[in-house]
Amino acid sequence: MKYFPLRNSDIQISRIALGTWVFGGTHWGGSKQTDCIKAVHAAIDLGINLIDTAPIYGAGISETIIGKAIQNKRSKVILANKCGLLGKGKNITNNLTAKSIFTEIEGSLQRLKTDYIDIYQCHWPDPNTPLKETMTALAELKKQGKIRYIGVSNFNNELLEEAEQYAEITTLQNHYSILDREIETNALPYCRKHNINVLCYGPLAGGILSGKYTEPPTLEGSDARNFFYKYYKGEKFEQVTKLLEKLREFKRPLNQIAINWLLAQSGVSSVLVGARNAEQVKQNVEATTWTLSDNEIKIIKQNTIC
Ligand SMILES: NC(=O)c1ccc[n+]([C@@H]2O[C@H](COP(=O)([O-])OP(=O)(O)OC[C@H]3O[C@@H](n4cnc5c(N)ncnc54)[C@H](OP(=O)(O)O)[C@@H]3O)[C@@H](O)[C@H]2O)c1
Repeated sequence: MKYFPLRNSDIQISRIALGTWVFGGTHWGGSKQTDCIKAVHAAIDLGINLIDTAPIYGAGISETIIGKAIQNKRSKVILANKCGLLGKGKNITNNLTAKSIFTEIEGSLQRLKTDYIDIYQCHWPDPNTPLKETMTALAELKKQGKIRYIGVSNFNNELLEEAEQYAEITTLQNHYSILDREIETNALPYCRKHNINVLCYGPLAGGILSGKYTEPPTLEGSDARNFFYKYYKGEKFEQVTKLLEKLREFKRPLNQIAINWLLAQSGVSSVLVGARNAEQVKQNVEATTWTLSDNEIKIIKQNTIC
């Protein structure tokens, strides 16, 4: 495993992190708790120290599973957690008020069976709460020792700049993959300039970039691959299939090509890869054993569909 220094800290975060949205089960066609626990243990054994979760993932299920998995291993893990999305199913609201954050963190600490969270991130912006209130609340949690660093997610440059007026922002977590490259024109250059660590999510676009689908999968209506990652049917599916055919010429596992392409991008600190079992974790961590050539990186850019 390779590591990257976390801003203004003595912490090194692993360049591949474990994403655990899938642990929540909902939105991912279910998940098995025992497999998820094994995935966490495999990740730690393979040198992953950064684990990302959120209370919204399965309404606390993901956090609860991680809490079980990291008992007696807490010191080996940098826990990245989130706040600001409340509710269940289709009834989800944004709430980054101080009152809500102070309540939310207590539930998260309990489920994770820990007394601190390393990186506490605003999950999505809350247009109804002044950022000053949110950041002041997070700075207070930092002072109390309940969190160590403040992060934001899905923030644009304007919001980042405003947030930085009130607290030190250590990380930005945004969407970034071969198929989703909007970050390159805005947040990524900003973070490079301001020394903010970028954690990218959705590196496999929900799994499709692993190349495992020869035809569009059948998914429940509420599946993340229907409403969040939109490459699983129709023309988009065909376009991704064509791109993957080109990438197969590299003679490397496609999941690793997708991860390595992100690792090669300047400004990316860590790639959050979701995995539902130990085998997927192993296959993804293998990406750190080789790198793409400059020419391969160029070919990916030339064949992009976004
Ligand atoms: N801040 C935000 O708003 C936000 C949004 C999204 C995600 N995230 C975070 O980022 C993490 C990563 O994103 P993600 O999980 O949504 O998407 P992802 O990493 O692109 O895809 C993960 C999914 O791909 C499949 N997969 C993983 N490894 C594989 C392998 N080696 N071979 C074949 N299939 C494989 C698994 O699903 P199947 O087994 O079902 O195919 C897995 O759940 C999340 O878990 C979460 O922690 C944050």
